[in-house]
Formats: sequence, structure tokens, C-alpha cells
Amino acid sequence: MLIAPSILSADFARLEAHAEEAVDAGADWLHIDVMDGHFVPNITFGPLAVAALEPLKQKSGVILDVHLMITKPERYVDEFIEAGADIVTVHVEACQALGDTFRRIRKLGCRPGLTMNPDTPLDQFIPWLNEIDVAMIMSVYPGFAGQSYIPQSSQRVRQLRSMIDYSKSNVLLEVDGGIGPDNVCEVIGNGADVIVAGSAIFGGNVSERIAQFRSQSAPVAQQDRATAS
Ligand code: DX5
Ligand code: ZN
Repeated sequence: MLIAPSILSADFARLEAHAEEAVDAGADWLHIDVMDGHFVPNITFGPLAVAALEPLKQKSGVILDVHLMITKPERYVDEFIEAGADIVTVHVEACQALGDTFRRIRKLGCRPGLTMNPDTPLDQFIPWLNEIDVAMIMSVYPGFAGQSYIPQSSQRVRQLRSMIDYSKSNVLLEVDGGIGPDNVCEVIGNGADVIVAGSAIFGGNVSERIAQFRSQSAPVAQQDRATAS
């Protein structure tokens, strides 16, 4: 399991130090939630937030995972990659040129991802599974940190897992929203590779919270190894 703490719930007055706590505690990626007040009813930050974390990336090797909740994300892909993004994920509902956008992201040396809102049919992933590196299930309606996990997401994670396995692609399955130590085991058991967590990590002692995530998911990881061998 890869853990991607969402900096949306970090203390912005000491963003780098707070993010570094997560990296030191074993975070694999840093998830950066970009919102434009148009595609979603909230405004967060732009490429400058990515640039602010770039020195930490250089020092630690952490992956900067940028989730664009913005209308026409294709307009801003270049800027986020120049700022240091390693993964750029766009919404199927917001992007008018998915194929061109994925190719552009890859051409600039970055990894493309695709996600969709909880009500959007999952079959919209199918045409793109061989062109993306990350497929992400939104387990809350995008816009705010600290929401509750939508229970129907579990079924969607299992369906997307089957679609990825059937396509024989190496896409990583990421799940975003409402995940904490109490349900991480279920989300991983349904087939997630990457877990995003904002409030459950930055809302308390970061290293203790990440350790809790690891210990809660350990039995599932062990089971997977046993099934694979
Ligand atoms: C929701 C964002 C999520 C969210 C995660 O719009 O994409 O990344 O901030 O925060 P928690 O873990 O608090 O749901
Ligand atoms: Zn997100």
C-alpha cells in the first residue's frame, strides 16, 4: 500500500515542515488538491503550492501527486509540471481533450492520471486504461476535506480493480476521500494500491497516524502475499 497524505489538511503556515513530517513518517506520495471554485465549490491553491514542496521532493524523493479539480485542466498542465508535479490527475467531467492531455503530460516527463465523481459511470475509464498510470476512485464528492467515505465506493473500487486486472495494464488504483485507520483495511481489501488521506493524517500526530494506517492495513497485505504465493 502506498500512502498519499493530502496537504489540503496540513497547516499552511508551515506547509513544508508539516509535509516533511509525513514524508519522514513514511508517506510515499504527497497529494495536492487543486480546486478552482468552478468545477468544485471551493478554492485552494495553484502551481505555487507545488513549487513550495519541490525542495522537499528533491531532498526526499517523495512523489508529488497533483489532483486537478478544475475546469479545462489542459490549460494548466504545463505550469503544474514545471512547478514539480510527478503525477497529474484530471477529472473526466472537466477535461475536453483527455487523449491530448495524457500525451502532453507524458511528453513533459510526468505521469497521467484519471478520476471521476462518485456518480460518473466507471466504464469511462475503459478507453484510457492503457494511456494512464493512475486511476482514482473518488470516495467523496470532490471539494472539501473531512467528509465521510461514501459506502458505495467499495463496490466501485472492486469494479475498477477488475477492469484494471482484465486490461493487464500497470495502472495504480488510488482511492481519495474519507479514509482513516478504521476503513483503510476495507479499502485495501477491495483492491486499492494507493490511499489518499487528509484530515485523518494531518488532523493529529502525523507519524502516529501514518503508523496506524500501516498497522491497520498490515493483515490485508499479508493475506495478499499469501494468496500470491
Ligand atoms: C476531496 C479531495 C481529497 C480530500 C481528502 O475533494 O480530493 O483529497 O481532501 O481529505 P480527507 O481524507 O479528509 O477526506
Ligand atoms: Zn484529492
